[in-house]
Amino acid sequence: MKSYGLNELREMFLRFFETKEHLRLPSFSLIPQDDASLLLINSGMAPMKPYFKGDKEPPRHRICTCQKCIRTGDIENIGKTARHGTYFEMLGNFSFGKYFKKEMCAWAYEFSTEVLKLEKDRIHVTVFTDDDEAAEIWEKVGVAPDHITRLGEDDNFWVAGPTGPCGPCSEMYYDQGPEVGCGRPDCAPGCDCDRFLEYWNLVFTQFDRQEDGSMVPLAHGNIDTGMGLERVAGIMQGVVSNFDTDILRGLVGVGERLSGKTYGVDEKVDLSLRIMADHSRAITFMVGDGILPSNEGRGYILRRLLRRAVRHGRLIGIEGPFLKEFLDAIVEEMG
Ligand code: ALA
Repeated sequence: MKSYGLNELREMFLRFFETKEHLRLPSFSLIPQDDASLLLINSGMAPMKPYFKGDKEPPRHRICTCQKCIRTGDIENIGKTARHGTYFEMLGNFSFGKYFKKEMCAWAYEFSTEVLKLEKDRIHVTVFTDDDEAAEIWEKVGVAPDHITRLGEDDNFWVAGPTGPCGPCSEMYYDQGPEVGCGRPDCAPGCDCDRFLEYWNLVFTQFDRQEDGSMVPLAHGNIDTGMGLERVAGIMQGVVSNFDTDILRGLVGVGERLSGKTYGVDEKVDLSLRIMADHSRAITFMVGDGILPSNEGRGYILRRLLRRAVRHGRLIGIEGPFLKEFLDAIVEEMG
């Protein structure tokens, strides 16, 4: 497999969907517009809810984006696991009533096997328990029947927030090999260990969840997909941890330079280096979109990230103001 950088992979994805007649849009701001259900954009589909609901006409009925996202629900896990991040980019393609499962699964397999050239034997998928249709389509496009797992409501039903467009989903996993896993005989997609890495979530958006929990069917079936850019970069670069992918590893390197410490020697230092690498990107993009530290809402999330980043710098011996050093590296790589 060829190794690609984050910036190359982003372009490969968007170009692929342009050949499938999608309109490429730039990332939307991290600040949700007219959406009280979210403090920050947390997925590629979040800024497009009005198109899914039919409240607004999209510029085209097929769109692709690479969306800046922030998720802080798992903030305590950042740096402790290989794949959690507060800031990440989500590659996504969206259909507002134009195509559905059949086309989507075929394209997802085509992109995975012909563009990324992932090993077919290592691709696994999950489908919603009773989604026979999706299981059949996957088999037709080439996924081996014993690589198709059915998962229940908690795992294979996707919602952006308490209300809004949602639906059953099907996830694609890459088997990173038994040597990186838990070793349990029943280890399979959905296991908490690092062996099966979920890299792409395909949501078949069909409902609009209401405040009372009821599901109102949408006028037609839609598609919302999300591929984690850092995760797919990890696969292509042959590394298990997101923090070893090109851009994040570069930021870990900034922390090494500032602290004089070496990554990979002391687990406590590594944790701080990873937290600084992650949080500095979140902070940079939040401020870039106009968010300022405050005592409430988005501003409070930013303040918390700032304090955590600075605290971890102090813990490994960095003195004085230092976040600007990260910012310069981020602008250089991602500006
Ligand atoms: N919206 C879906 C997700 O974030 C694709 O996983």
